[in-house]
Amino acid sequence: MRQPLFGLDYPVWQAPTGSIAGPELAGAVSGAGGMGAMALTWASPEQATAQVLEVRAMTARPFQVNFALAFPPNSLTAALEAGAPVVTFSWGDPSPYLAQVRAAGAKVGVQVASAEGARRMVQLGVDFLVCQGIEAGGHVQSSQPLLSLLPQVIEASEGVPVIAAGGAGDGKDIARLLSAGATGVMLGTRFVATQESRAHPEYKAQLVAARAEQTALTVCFDGDWPYAAHRVLRNPTLERWEAAGSPPHGNRPGEGQVVGRNAAGEPILRYADTAPRHGFTGEIGDMCLYAGAGCASIQDIPNASDLLRRLWHEAENGI
Ligand SMILES: Cc1cc2nc3c(=O)[nH]c(=O)nc-3n(C[C@H](O)[C@H](O)[C@H](O)COP(=O)(O)O)c2cc1C
Repeated sequence: MRQPLFGLDYPVWQAPTGSIAGPELAGAVSGAGGMGAMALTWASPEQATAQVLEVRAMTARPFQVNFALAFPPNSLTAALEAGAPVVTFSWGDPSPYLAQVRAAGAKVGVQVASAEGARRMVQLGVDFLVCQGIEAGGHVQSSQPLLSLLPQVIEASEGVPVIAAGGAGDGKDIARLLSAGATGVMLGTRFVATQESRAHPEYKAQLVAARAEQTALTVCFDGDWPYAAHRVLRNPTLERWEAAGSPPHGNRPGEGQVVGRNAAGEPILRYADTAPRHGFTGEIGDMCLYAGAGCASIQDIPNASDLLRRLWHEAENGI
């Protein structure tokens, strides 16, 4: 096995999971020896500063902040100035931002979904690649299964470390991906079902109950990010839309309906791409429940440090 990057105790990475993973989760994972993560794409600069400082107050160990470049990275400068040690970019061209990240002394990784994408990022001099497979929960950049894409990306990487993401739910999955040459394995959905995640308790409970065949890759929950495929749990919103023939925007069943409210009392519309968090009310099960294809392995809602140690124990012992 390759040495974990950045002096981690375990080559296990928590994936950035939008607004579901805040400083509590990122700090817990990093503090326990894995790589924690926060997505700051939608954070204001003030929120980004506060969140980075909060993780730094919890642990001196590295963590990543993520920007999905389908949107302008408005809080990148704030995150770097607050001392974010590792930045990951997904969904876009990171080249305009690399010099700024390097000047701040941070490391940078980029999510890729093809060998060609990997080659281009290696030429740009990134520190590591994140190889995302089609099994991933959340927005899915890839159109290939992880175990077929990973060797292609590793071959194209010219020795630049590759972190594998998508569908990993337990230690066996981690061991398999490390044996296939990954330097680390990134898990998103598994960490959504932890005590520290901000996911609504009903969303966590649905992940525990989910079967593998229950996830769907769809464009149903388009919200503010149309055309980007995403993997979710099948639920009434998706099933009604599919039963109606998957009609386009403007003709979808129940379109414009308020299915619930966030903690600030703002309405959540039926096809919103917002995953339900603590404090949301209403029809939680009708909202966008992002989930990777490995969700059938999720049997409980542990705290993040126990989960990390358990995953690594399973991976090392072939359990
Ligand atoms: C709830 C949720 C939100 C996500 N949000 C982001 C995000 O903000 N940025 C990003 O690059 N990837 C995001 N992803 C994708 C993850 O980074 C990662 O690729 C994926 O979780 C790996 O698959 P897994 O969920 O099967 O482990 C999200 C995934 C989930 C489940």
